[in-house]
Order: sequence, then structure tokens, then C-alpha cells
Amino acid sequence: MKKKWMAAALTLLVGVSVVSGTGGAMAKEKQKDIVNVAHRGASGYAPEHTLVSYEMGEKLKGDYIEIDLQMTKDGQLIAMHDETLDRTTNGTGLVKDFTLDQIKELDAGSWFNETYPQYAKASYEGLTVPTLEEVFQKFGKNEFYYIETKSPEVYPGMEKELLRLVKKYGIDKNKLLVQSFSAESLEKMHELDSSVKLVQLLWYTADAVITDEEIEEIKNYAIGVGPNYTFIDKEYVQKVTASGLEIHPYTVNDKETMKTLIDWGVTGIFTNFPGLLHEVKKGK
Ligand code: G3P
Ligand code: CA
Repeated sequence: MKKKWMAAALTLLVGVSVVSGTGGAMAKEKQKDIVNVAHRGASGYAPEHTLVSYEMGEKLKGDYIEIDLQMTKDGQLIAMHDETLDRTTNGTGLVKDFTLDQIKELDAGSWFNETYPQYAKASYEGLTVPTLEEVFQKFGKNEFYYIETKSPEVYPGMEKELLRLVKKYGIDKNKLLVQSFSAESLEKMHELDSSVKLVQLLWYTADAVITDEEIEEIKNYAIGVGPNYTFIDKEYVQKVTASGLEIHPYTVNDKETMKTLIDWGVTGIFTNFPGLLHEVKKGK
């Protein structure tokens, strides 16, 4: 009986110390859980959406490789942010008007050297645009992927093709997140395979408020939201997290903002500099 009482007292003591005495440790523990998303790879240092950029994202301790998808004329999913080839290759025109063979001829690295001479490397010249299939082949089924269906209205069937490749390469669905600004695309994904975890991206042009109705609607198919960090505040973050949704703001490239967002309670951050977020998480 006495032993039981002592055990209960000990439990209470430990409980109290966890709640009141180790706030710093708990805050650090919380920070460790912040999902570090290498946005377009470590795209601050290397040409976005190249295998080199994704590799660097891993090296710099990004948890997830972020991949934007476009689709070629012959139905291949490729990693590219824009609907056009112009900004990130030496080609011009719409991705949808070119076959994969044609896109593979393009240089997807030299633009970076010209735009960011401080990070330029000769080895970036002549890099090619990777297919999603090549990314899966290189990084394997146990990598963490955060994949965006871009312009899904332009590419009917892209969700189905994405799922086909996820299945073909045995990608671990516990390590996969699919994101989109298009609720229709996410709802389609949810219908096709409800076991894939989804994140609703949100775009604002002024200070953002999210309503209870919006949250309830998003919860029907997604596990989280990805707002532009510029327009959110502490109240926004806390409303989202209180609802049980994850919140991963994009795209944060300085430590001070990372710290502020973590303080507000975000559960992940997209960054072009995953090494910086890693340092913030380590308390540096
Ligand atoms: O996916 C999060 C963020 O990447 C959304 O913006 O334009 O960089 O794809 P964007
Ligand atoms: Ca994206």
C-alpha cells in the first residue's frame, strides 16, 4: 500500500516537473518536430528541381524533398515549377507542347549560374530536367517526398499518373505528402486513394483569416494547410493547429522569421535553405 502511494507521489512529481520545470527542453522538443521542407531542393544554393538540388537538400538536413510537377506533351511528369520552360531552362514555350525527349535536350542549370553568380558552379551547366520517375529511382521508396500538382487544370490525369508512379516505386505513403493550390486536384487525389496525406496550399494577398467553415471543409480531405507566411499571424497559426490541421508556411529563407513562426506554433516550414532551418531547430 505504502509502495503504491510512493509510486503515485513520484508520478505526480515527475508530471509537475515536466509541466513546470522543463519548459526550455519541451520547447526544444517541439522545435525538433518542425518539418523541414527543402523547397525545390536546396534551391538557394543549386538550380531548383534538379537532382543536384534535391541531393543538397538532403545533405543540409531537409526532411522532405519538395517537388513541383508539370506534364510533358507525351504525358510524362517532370519536376518543374513553371508552366513554361523559359525561366529555368534555355528553352522557351509551354511544357505541355514539348515531349520529354525534347525537354531532356535542355540545359536546366546555366540560368542559375547567371542569376546567382555567388553560388555558381561549372558543374551546374548542362544539368537536365528530371522526371518524377528518375527522382523516385534515385532517392528510393523510403525518402520523404512533398509533391505538388501544379496547374492540374492544364494536365488532366496528372493525379492518376502520380499515383501510378507512387505505386510502381513502392513509395512509403507515410513519408509522402501531396500538396496543391487546387482543392479540386486534392479532392481527386483523395477520391483515387484516401490513404495519401494531402496539404491544401493557400494564397493570400492581404492579412489572412481562416474561417471555421474553411477549416472544416479542408479537413474533409487534407491533413494540413500551406499558407504564404507573409500574410499570416500568431492567431491564424493557433486557430489552424487547434483544429488539428498541420500548418507548413512557405517560403521562409531567414532565421528570424523561422524562429517567429516556430514560436507561433507552425508544424513545418518550406525553405530554400534547409541548413538554416536545421540550425534554428538546433537552437543556433
Ligand atoms: O509548395 C509550397 C510552395 O512551393 C508554393 O509555392 O510557387 O513555390 O510552388 P510555389
Ligand atoms: Ca511548390
